[in-house]
Amino acid sequence: MKRAREWHSGFFRNSFYNPASPAASAAAPAEAAFAAKLLGLKKGAALLDLCCGPGRHAVEFARRGLAVTGYDFSAEYLREAAARAAARGVELRLLRGDMRRLKFREEFDAAVNLFTSFGYFPKYSDDLRTLKGAARALKPGGLFLIDLLNGDLVRRLFIPRDWHDLGGHYLLEERELRGDLLFNTWTRLDRKTGRAQKRTFFNRLYGRAELAAALRLGGLRPLKFLGGFDGSPLSADSVRLLCLARKA
Ligand SMILES: C[S@@+](CC[C@H](N)C(=O)[O-])C[C@H]1O[C@@H](n2cnc3c(N)ncnc32)[C@H](O)[C@@H]1O
Repeated sequence: MKRAREWHSGFFRNSFYNPASPAASAAAPAEAAFAAKLLGLKKGAALLDLCCGPGRHAVEFARRGLAVTGYDFSAEYLREAAARAAARGVELRLLRGDMRRLKFREEFDAAVNLFTSFGYFPKYSDDLRTLKGAARALKPGGLFLIDLLNGDLVRRLFIPRDWHDLGGHYLLEERELRGDLLFNTWTRLDRKTGRAQKRTFFNRLYGRAELAAALRLGGLRPLKFLGGFDGSPLSADSVRLLCLARKA
């Protein structure tokens, strides 16, 4: 497998991957409803959806009357978010940029980072830069909600490879753990054409303790950990790791 590098710019393209799969899109309204309730935001509150992708949560937040800024690196996904917003009759402010270079200052009542949109960089310091930028973007006392794959579970029940049937294509996922980085090689096999595409990427694994430490270093104080968008408490078997934090 390849060495750690900046992989995100070539990976998040419709020709290979789109986070708004039918199943993920179907889950988004309930996830956004849960997140909005947890954040306790009033109509008109300013929300940053950091790494909003194709906007599946952003439009749902906007439908709840929040003033949503969606921020992402992928121009393709941002175009899709704009189309989704137009189709739902809501407004989104969509900005393109790198999560490590957030320029906002005390602008938002809350920020979210959903569906493991974090831990993408070879340097841990870049993850901290991202968190510091998110903290700076929040008004004093503002809330931050992050949703990651639970790194503690991945380490405990390590599955080196598995297949998924994703409708139009099959996906083979192969995994390798190197220190705190989980290397994934995805082979996408098109059902109709038989065409195979392969990409290797990594993400830094965060369990509860590592996430709490990173958030604190980023200027965010963890308030609550959860194991899913159903509000379940975080346990050793939780697939997701959600943390609600407040600007310190
Ligand atoms: C797993 S997807 C999740 C997207 C969205 N939150 C969702 O749940 O559908 C991760 C997102 O992070 C974005 N991303 C990756 N690297 C980025 C970077 N350096 N700066 C900003 N966005 C980035 C990708 O373009 C992609 O939209």
